[in-house]
Amino acid sequence: MQILSIDKVKPGDVLGKSLFNHRGDLLLASGYELTRDMIELMQGRGIRYIHVLTEAAKDINPQQVISDTVRRMANREMSELVESLGECEEEFKHASVEEIKQRIEDSEKLKNVVKMPTVRRVVVKILEEILDNPSVMFSSIRMRAEDGADYEHAIDTTVLSILIARAFRYSYSDLRTLATASMLHDIGKVILGPMRRKPPMELNGDEKMILREHPIYSKLILQENAVDTFVEQITMLHHHEQHDGSGYPQGLKGCGRPPVKTRGEDIGYIHRHAEVLAVANVYDNLTTGAYNGRVHSPNDAITALVNGRAGTWNPYVVRALVKCVECFPVGITVRIVDNYSKRFLGYRGIVAKSNSEDQSKPSIILTHNTTGTEIVPRLIDFSDEKFMEIEIELWRRVMARRVSRRHLPADSARQSLAFPASAPAVLYIP
Ligand SMILES: [Fe+2]
Repeated sequence: MQILSIDKVKPGDVLGKSLFNHRGDLLLASGYELTRDMIELMQGRGIRYIHVLTEAAKDINPQQVISDTVRRMANREMSELVESLGECEEEFKHASVEEIKQRIEDSEKLKNVVKMPTVRRVVVKILEEILDNPSVMFSSIRMRAEDGADYEHAIDTTVLSILIARAFRYSYSDLRTLATASMLHDIGKVILGPMRRKPPMELNGDEKMILREHPIYSKLILQENAVDTFVEQITMLHHHEQHDGSGYPQGLKGCGRPPVKTRGEDIGYIHRHAEVLAVANVYDNLTTGAYNGRVHSPNDAITALVNGRAGTWNPYVVRALVKCVECFPVGITVRIVDNYSKRFLGYRGIVAKSNSEDQSKPSIILTHNTTGTEIVPRLIDFSDEKFMEIEIELWRRVMARRVSRRHLPADSARQSLAFPASAPAVLYIP
């Protein structure tokens, strides 16, 4: 299957992966032939890209870090938590930072809002699946609806935190603590209502100040719900602290060492779990547009983290992140910009297999030549190239749109979409 930007999906295209709502109910089953109404429904829900079955990509099956079953369970439980927190937002409207902190401690509603056994059950399920699959990499290109942004961010940040921490040989118990903190790190933001979704440039001074304290609110909420979570609370409290001390809310610095257990407690520095969580959090925000309103490609997001454009973070953690995310996710369409042998320059194709040694040299099923003409698909392994530069079509178009202000001429790219729809099993709930 192939990953397509939703604006390139056409009626008649065949859905490659099932679509579920926040309760885990099936909306559209894989194999379904899409209609215009359904495509518009998905666009309306803020879904940016979907998996589509195409003839050229029929043998491509992108790996998943966690199964649909566990993701649906996590979606269901976390969306309930977000909903319950959202019901408390009235109590915090028009309140100052200090009032918010006090009201969290006084609120009766907030006292039983986090069901720790449920959160732990979700975390353990995710953890078990990841530990069972040692070589799996994180793909940041997934069907994700905007109305589920809060809990989908929590789940993906958790998954990524675990993958990064695995590189530092975290013990099972440390992984569980980190994962729990990752899952809950922004609960203090959810109680702030719609303000939390505003792009940073649209926030006024007061709102900025209130939002910058959300790690404290998160800590306080957890403290009110589970007293035996000291390390989780500290991890949540530090998740926006930056290595050079420019983060918030306390302006702590990083100690400059890998986040391994032997480095000890590091009093006065950012907690090692928080250094992992912070990088996972920023990476997810960059690739979903929550960081600054611009959706970064995986490659761009990594570059921004490495060169400090997206904040300063523990460099060991950033290096570990680079090894566990797919820069060019399997199923994505890429264009060959340059390579050593000058083979297939300007051709387009679909990434069929990642190359863990050098992600810029994957195996690609070429589908279009340099003039954009469709060709008989053929699989080429580029791992032998001395150097190679490829770019993701999805972001090339996004960038082109930005450059040419609002509109480009109608999409000129043609896709091979002749794959016939098989009889679909579908339960469609608008
Ligand atoms: Fe946050």
